[in-house]
Amino acid sequence: MSTDETPRRAVSAALYDEIKARIADGTYAPGMALPSTRALAGERGLSRTTVSLVYEQLAADGFIETRAGAASRVAPGAVPGNRTSAHGSEHDRGSRIVRHSGRLSTIGARMPSLAYPDAPLPASGEIDFIYGPLAGRDFPTLTWLKALRTAERQRPARLSYEDPRGNLDLRKALQTHLSHARGLSCSVEQILIVNGSQQGLDLCARLLVSPGDTVAVENPGYRMAHNVFEAYGAKLAGVDVDALGMRTELLAAIPQAQLAYVTPTHQFPLGAFLPIGRRHALLDWAAKHGTWIIEDDYDSEYRYSVRPEATLQSLDTRECVIHVGTFSKTLSPQLRLGYMVLPPRLVETFSIAKRLTDWHANTGIQRALAALLEDGSYDRHVRRIRRLQHARQHALLEALATHLGKRVEVQGAASGLHLVVWFSGLERQREQMLVEAARRGGVLVYPINIFFHPAVEPEASDRPAGLVMGYALLEKPQIDEGVRRLAAALRRIDSGSP
Ligand SMILES: Cc1ncc(COP(=O)(O)O)c(C=O)c1O
Repeated sequence: MSTDETPRRAVSAALYDEIKARIADGTYAPGMALPSTRALAGERGLSRTTVSLVYEQLAADGFIETRAGAASRVAPGAVPGNRTSAHGSEHDRGSRIVRHSGRLSTIGARMPSLAYPDAPLPASGEIDFIYGPLAGRDFPTLTWLKALRTAERQRPARLSYEDPRGNLDLRKALQTHLSHARGLSCSVEQILIVNGSQQGLDLCARLLVSPGDTVAVENPGYRMAHNVFEAYGAKLAGVDVDALGMRTELLAAIPQAQLAYVTPTHQFPLGAFLPIGRRHALLDWAAKHGTWIIEDDYDSEYRYSVRPEATLQSLDTRECVIHVGTFSKTLSPQLRLGYMVLPPRLVETFSIAKRLTDWHANTGIQRALAALLEDGSYDRHVRRIRRLQHARQHALLEALATHLGKRVEVQGAASGLHLVVWFSGLERQREQMLVEAARRGGVLVYPINIFFHPAVEPEASDRPAGLVMGYALLEKPQIDEGVRRLAAALRRIDSGSP
């Protein structure tokens, strides 16, 4: 490159950018004649060759049209915007944007009202009683890595898409597992592997519910389920929950529900096991109205005192129950692995929809899980983690008794990874105040009110303030210290200086 060529190039580039920017901001409109090369060269003190070369480049890039003997004009389809232009700042570009008339779908437009608040991350030293995440240290890392490596070694020569229902080995292993762990009898064909139970709920909402249909839900209940039904236009009918779970006698007031979503093994979040009489009442009501039932069996591995009783699915003689389970509570929510046991008449519809959604779940991970189930290491892991979680729950119950005593009433200790703690003498309107005072004292706790559907929390309800306290991330000393801090926060509220 000669020494005087560099400045000439810089001059050409600057002129090129300038003209392009003027086209973009409309100063040079499509069809408008540009100055002649002679005039522009004279005006800028440049050689005519430099200007001609810039025009040629603009023409080659489609911004202008040149014709021998005629003026160069801005091309009719010249694209506005020069994203790399030295002239166009972000601000200029923003002010040039005129949104086109594209709209969101009806479902898309509902999304802002269904946003789920992200839980705050604990700052260092804060103790977090969150429900949902599991401790990384509880994950069976070595066993999982071994299973993954084996699965990878068995990678077939032909990498094709798999059956949308899921890997056959996993479905077979799951069939055996569900039979001995849950007394659930089904064929391999009825099992559909999904990316977490959330995908199962989404498929149910899309395939079983039309806009305007009623979906009966427990209130309080699992908001991630409620929200998915609402997303697709369902009307929620909240059914109150008492110490025994969903109050099925109230179902008669909901004449035409298309779907009911229940957590009968461990009502979320209050923790009841739905007794057999209510199970039959629910099934009879569903049979009468042609209502589908989703049985969300999300944490049945954690029944501490007794074996988990029979599922709704096994009592169902009318093929109306869709049983949904997950590995998010025993292995990790990050695996996104769950399953559905479908009534036979729904299998084809759900398989086609699953294929249209994402073809199928990740094959390597499904094969690794199949190996864990087949060689007994999954059962061993569940026994181990159940002991750990039970010990944590015990520590939490002890700490609550020690630091809060009669101020609290605890619900849902028979199973699961969380407890519901009611604060007698503290009105529900002060729940948020308790959460904030606790945070200032270094402990993160979560109000129960977020699990009531706002539109259906009984207005008359005179419940006291309540918290959903998860313990899966914590060990005994932190649990004790966390509850001590919570008790101190409550004392500050009582004394009027939270
Ligand atoms: C009631 C309930 N169902 C299901 C799940 C699990 O969802 P997923 O399998 O999508 O992780 C949870 C997780 O917190 C839950 O609380």
